[in-house]
Amino acid sequence: MTLRPLLVLVLVTLGCEEGTTLEPLSPTSFDVVSQETSLQLSASPAFADERGGGVFVDLAGRVVRVRPNGARGVLEPHPRNTVLPGPATGVYALGPANALVATSRGLFVADQGWLIAPSWQDLLPPEGLLGTTLGTDGVAWLAHAQGLYRLDRGVLTEFTVGGQGLGGTSAMAVAPTLDGTPGLWFAREGKLLAAAQTSRTEFTVHDSGLSATVLAGGVQGLVGIGPSRDSGGELWAITRTSLLLYTGTAWRQYTLPAAPRRLLGAGRFAWLQAGDALYRYDADTRAWAEAKALPGAGTLLAADAAGNAWVRVGTQTLSVSPVLTPRLRGLFQGARVFDGQLVLQASLPERERPEALAWELDGLSHALDFPSGTLGAGPTEALRFFSLGGAEPSGVLKPISLATLADGWHTLSLQATTGGQTATRRVHFEFRGASTATVSWERDIKDLGVERCAKCHATGTDPELVTYAQWKTNAAAIADAVRSSRMPADGPLDSAGVSAIVLWVNGGAQP
Ligand code: HEC
Repeated sequence: MTLRPLLVLVLVTLGCEEGTTLEPLSPTSFDVVSQETSLQLSASPAFADERGGGVFVDLAGRVVRVRPNGARGVLEPHPRNTVLPGPATGVYALGPANALVATSRGLFVADQGWLIAPSWQDLLPPEGLLGTTLGTDGVAWLAHAQGLYRLDRGVLTEFTVGGQGLGGTSAMAVAPTLDGTPGLWFAREGKLLAAAQTSRTEFTVHDSGLSATVLAGGVQGLVGIGPSRDSGGELWAITRTSLLLYTGTAWRQYTLPAAPRRLLGAGRFAWLQAGDALYRYDADTRAWAEAKALPGAGTLLAADAAGNAWVRVGTQTLSVSPVLTPRLRGLFQGARVFDGQLVLQASLPERERPEALAWELDGLSHALDFPSGTLGAGPTEALRFFSLGGAEPSGVLKPISLATLADGWHTLSLQATTGGQTATRRVHFEFRGASTATVSWERDIKDLGVERCAKCHATGTDPELVTYAQWKTNAAAIADAVRSSRMPADGPLDSAGVSAIVLWVNGGAQP
């Protein structure tokens, strides 16, 4: 297998040098609520799942899934892999529920209980992988010592400027570029550059224009904050001495009491380690707060879109946040939603039985009846699930309706009150379900299946997905797998593909 043709790029360097005014960060503070896992995990980069839990490397170099209740889940090499994974060195986000695992014998995709070898496995050596960042529309970016790569529709493409690869990139993030145009920021050779996206495959690269004084020591970390209904995205950056914010139009520079060490983010949250202090940023309130009462100085391992971070303190691995975040199943941060009906469930640890649970969508709020939760057993701690739409007497969960929503960004917020304190989980999603077109398998789905599913599901992977009858039989599982971005296993579909499949299934899986 070889790499696909390169992207067309133009380099435009801005003439003027941007200065910024320095201001102190002035964070508020919060006492951390932490949950620990009894598992012995290493301090390698990890993947934090917004439904709770995550994927980690243990002390023996094995890849382990930490379940939302803190228990260990198994990740097995898929029987169809031709290469067995070796000891792992790091885990990086590839989607809301999938992660990319670097092992000594190659890169693997962690999906549910499997480690799956992607079709592009032999294109990139596992050593040299620096990190990933998630774009919109199912695109993931990979920063590697050899260059910068884009994973789109299961195809890995090298990102180049004027035919030159971008090896040596030290940090990257998807965020608004100059004048708010969406794109990718990356730091390389002491410079901070923005690739503004002008079409699906074309970008124009600009220099940030920041002066050498501002960028002294180079950019050490970048985080992109996704948009919401009320605000656009943001870019946060750390240099050796300060913290920088770009909002699509202007830069701000903040001083910190100690040198910044690490910056991580997911969804609309960022976490920063500076000296021994740990700070959390919530883009919905535009405020930084310092974490107090941690059992010691830690190492930031991963951040999730629900506003929690995984931190390693001494020999313990803790999930920390200001409150015990209620988790949501059935919808993820930044999702593109094509269904008018969604089955959504809130989950909380069993010991935290809430006094009140409510959810709000675009200003309309709904209180949940009690006791309506169902208990899911767990070896470490049981979780209690609450269906936002309630349940039929038979136990079948009822969906909530999004039928009245207009296409565009919306916010669902979930509020759980325990011990007199209310914790909120906010999910920003883009609704695209106002379309009513009928979808046919033969006309709209078959080719997509050949292109994106057949390489695994026509060659021995269960379920076989070749004929209309096989697609129809598996329709519900297919919709579920593509909607949650778990399938295709070698990189998610773009929104048009997800939309076509979901509309086809909702329309009765017509031939
Ligand atoms: C790179 C390989 C690969 C590709 C491409 C792929 N899948 Fe899968 N898929 C898997 C593997 C591996 C499993 C797990 C099978 C098992 O349990 O043995 C799976 C499982 C599934 C399942 C079973 C239920 C579940 O949710 O796990 C469904 C449904 C599915 N895939 C749908 C699809 C569809 C639809 C596409 C194309 C849009 C696709 N897959 C593309 C590898 C792939």
